[in-house]
Amino acid sequence: MEKKFINLSKNFSVKNSSVGVPEIDAQHEHLINLINKLSKMCLERDEVSDIAFAMMIKQTLYFIQFHMNCEKELMEETAYPELEVHNQFHHVFFMNFLKQIRAFESRDCFAPEKLPDFLYEWLNSHLIMDTDMGLHLRKSGYLVA
Ligand SMILES: [Fe+2]
Ligand SMILES: [Fe+2]
Repeated sequence: MEKKFINLSKNFSVKNSSVGVPEIDAQHEHLINLINKLSKMCLERDEVSDIAFAMMIKQTLYFIQFHMNCEKELMEETAYPELEVHNQFHHVFFMNFLKQIRAFESRDCFAPEKLPDFLYEWLNSHLIMDTDMGLHLRKSGYLVA
């Protein structure tokens, strides 16, 4: 999975990011692709139209929301003990991302050059945190592809 990063962000790399649950791994792969695309657009912001940028940022937001809901359902179904902490971590990131999208929409203090680091740092910690969830899901017998 490491090769899929375009590594726009300094010192960013993710190794062995598989959580061992095919459904979640496939979603993470899609998430990585979206974040790569959005980050590339951020760095080429002057050449990207507002409409194209807005569509990409919304697409990423919607998929993150979908992904977090899927994880939440799986954690609930399998009574994951770290459910609350995990959901809170999702929530904090999501609200911060929303804040940046609103800044872009209102043209108020939006810094596209800072978005890639923000997204990659979150992605890195998200994948690390999901490793424990993946372990729990596998122990619970959840391995649906
Ligand atoms: Fe995840
Ligand atoms: Fe997660």
